[in-house]
Amino acid sequence: MFEFFAAVAGALAVSGPVVKNLGELARGALDLCKLAEWVWKRVCQRVPEAQRQPVIRRALTEAASLPPQQFEQKVHEIIERELADQSPADRQAAKDYLSLIPEMIRTTFRSKKDPSGRTLPDNLNIQRSLDLLPFLPPRPPRFKVNDPVPGKPEWIFVERLGIGGFAEVWKARHQRFANMTSVIKICLDPQSQERLVKHEATILNQILRHGRHPGIVALRGVSLGSDPPWLEYEYAEGGDLHQFLLRHPWPVEKREARAWSIIRTLAGTLGYFHRLNPKVIHRDIKPSNVFLQRRANGAMVCLIGDFGIGDLAVQKDLADAATQARQPTFAVSGLSTSLRFAHTAMYASPQQKAGAAPQPTDDIYALGVMWYQLLVGDPTRPMDHEWRDELEALGVSPATIDHIAECVRKDATKRPADGTELAQRLAGEAVAVGSPPSVQSRRAGSVDAAL
Ligand SMILES: Nc1ncnc2c1ncn2[C@@H]1O[C@H](COP(=O)(O)OP(=O)(O)OP(=O)(O)O)[C@@H](O)[C@H]1O
Ligand SMILES: [Mg+2]
Repeated sequence: MFEFFAAVAGALAVSGPVVKNLGELARGALDLCKLAEWVWKRVCQRVPEAQRQPVIRRALTEAASLPPQQFEQKVHEIIERELADQSPADRQAAKDYLSLIPEMIRTTFRSKKDPSGRTLPDNLNIQRSLDLLPFLPPRPPRFKVNDPVPGKPEWIFVERLGIGGFAEVWKARHQRFANMTSVIKICLDPQSQERLVKHEATILNQILRHGRHPGIVALRGVSLGSDPPWLEYEYAEGGDLHQFLLRHPWPVEKREARAWSIIRTLAGTLGYFHRLNPKVIHRDIKPSNVFLQRRANGAMVCLIGDFGIGDLAVQKDLADAATQARQPTFAVSGLSTSLRFAHTAMYASPQQKAGAAPQPTDDIYALGVMWYQLLVGDPTRPMDHEWRDELEALGVSPATIDHIAECVRKDATKRPADGTELAQRLAGEAVAVGSPPSVQSRRAGSVDAAL
């Protein structure tokens, strides 16, 4: 572990003090590719070519598996040695940054084989600086456990749930009432902040007005005036569908009915928002944005999360993918399906990728891709041109295959026009795939029988 993390530590101090470099990374003035280049150069200097792959592999495996305290102890030793000539503040900043790497590794490698993300794929082959991007945090951590939530008196951060392209995501709770919890999504990327404040306010307003819809993770509040701005969502105890599917694979014979039920539920929920005036389009539908929640009445419901900021996440990821031109080369290194940006691109309609204005049919396209993934039982699998053959081989009915094909038509006008239309088509046919309509509860969003 030492050589690899020493290279990252050294790279953090290449063009100035660590705090300054990380500050520039946070402001977008230093890009992650540059940092990756410095890391790679150092790896190459420190480790002879023949040993590079096994050394990196060991470092990533160990970092992903060590208990947090042991990892921190190792990082402490590495930083004290490698950055001995730096100020205490710089050494601390380097430690904080490195402390995010294990979570980056685990998120990248979560798979059906190992949902915990601690097992590296056999064909992982890190050959150049860009191959390091999935393991380098996009910016230093802005908050730590027990920090107060800015602009929300008496609330503190209790658990970091994720660090993504544009946001840091935290579980937060009231200081005195421990079971009052929320998810706070803090927008940290400068361009996304500007978009959020200037352009997304109308949409957020709509969602706040209709936020009691039972099929969505409730948006509880928005703080655009705080620094940094954040959004507050209900905390979904059951976690997201992506992780659920990795941990609880469905038997092949049950997939079609379950998928049908979930897609129909999600389409109905999306349809409600698609038909508001002005329309609300999610734009980041994927299994990791669908949450499972047990309601007070005992029903298990499937809720759509991240309503209102989907476009921020996707545009940031697509922009990163384009400017850093990482996508094609990853396909050969065994990482393509697990990378965050590749992941986003999997669900984006051709129109969304081309930068067109949001349409309900973007969400329909994403539902089609997700439907395919539910049927193959793998939320990391991209939908390529063999998808029909794959589903036929699994015994999926022609009716389902036809619906999916309509959802993912290249021509958006040939897809179901919005969620309501798709939900209605599915409601009329549910029996055809052996999924009794009764699978659907009368309560919106309920998928009890499906799971
Ligand atoms: N409302 C919520 N309740 C519970 N967990 C949540 C909630 N929102 C997000 N999370 C969890 O926090 C982590 C980070 O969420 P985030 O939304 O950043 O990831 P993502 O869905 O993969 O990416 P993005 O939505 O930005 O495209 C994920 O593990 C997700 O399951
Ligand atoms: Mg999300």
